[in-house]
Amino acid sequence: QVTSKGNYKHFMEKEMHEQPEVIQHTLSNYIDFASGKVRLKSELPFSFKDLRRITMSACGTAYIAGLVAKYWFERYARIPVDIDVASEFRYREAPMEEGGLSLFISQSGETADTLASLRYCRENGQHIASIVNVQESTIARESDAIFPTIAGPEIGVASTKAFTCQLSVLLSLVILAARERGKITVEEEAELVQAVSELPKFIRQALKLSEPITHIARRLSKVDNILYLGRGTSFPLALEGALKLKEISYIHAEAYAAGELKHGPIALIDESMPVVVIAPFDGSYEKTVSNMQEVAARDGQIILITDEEGAKHNSLEDCDVVVMPKVPEILSPIVYALPIQLLAYHTADFMGTDVDQPRNLAKSVTVE
Ligand code: G6P
Repeated sequence: QVTSKGNYKHFMEKEMHEQPEVIQHTLSNYIDFASGKVRLKSELPFSFKDLRRITMSACGTAYIAGLVAKYWFERYARIPVDIDVASEFRYREAPMEEGGLSLFISQSGETADTLASLRYCRENGQHIASIVNVQESTIARESDAIFPTIAGPEIGVASTKAFTCQLSVLLSLVILAARERGKITVEEEAELVQAVSELPKFIRQALKLSEPITHIARRLSKVDNILYLGRGTSFPLALEGALKLKEISYIHAEAYAAGELKHGPIALIDESMPVVVIAPFDGSYEKTVSNMQEVAARDGQIILITDEEGAKHNSLEDCDVVVMPKVPEILSPIVYALPIQLLAYHTADFMGTDVDQPRNLAKSVTVE
């Protein structure tokens, strides 16, 4: 039964654990694993091949999914992407070249600012596509193309499974766009699809980290401020980590691109400041670690979320390390969403807040 918590304490906990399954479900709508190709169920009213730009807007966690996709679309499909929170986009009178693609991301499909942005883009001659979890929603109805997430109803106000399903859809579209634009070969597409096929397995492995993360969360539940750092696609994840934590635990959390540390937040670091560093062992690992050392030199308490290789290369002794499975680089923003969800969840649980219905927040914001 979808509206029952089953054996879980909160809907959020249940929804985190549903992720391997709902991601699998969602992906099967976009990818033909047998042939190693992205294959959509229906034809698109536009072609990625001819696109000169994608404009995305969304709110909250859905916006953060779009931010991850900007890195992906630009790097793998070589399409420039503009992204903004819908409450800014709708008013900033952005000039738009006729025939561009506007992509909206919304779990509920009813968020007022996202809908207003969609209408602005339609008036400005854009193709309108949306990634929605509720297929009967207003945003879905007003779109030329819908890319559904098959996450099932999400009850917890803090989005978890909708986020990773949005990322799974976006990743499928990135691979499709890269193929249509001739940026990847048939073999490379098959390799990416092979990597994507392993997502549910990696998510299951990441969920097993719930217990070690609980120990860290117990300490975090006693602090007043937390900083999150990441580079590349780990930067939006840092934003998501800070957002999730403040939403449900009410602890003040901020996220910065690791390279911006020196431009402000380093002034806040002392022994009372935990810093969560998201750093899979990829091309930006060394740079992020050097930022982490600047934090350590000022006695900040570090929580490093990395993989086995990253853990091996970490020379700091006095820090907590969450050791993730080694995953193909393109998948890390999806798999690393798990430890940050778990960290926020367990911290809030220790604090005894109303995790599923945090104060002052609504699941769907249908007013401006
Ligand atoms: C609210 C919810 C968030 C969600 C955001 C956007 O703030 O609490 O979890 O990410 O709205 O909602 P949408 O339905 O458009 O994805």
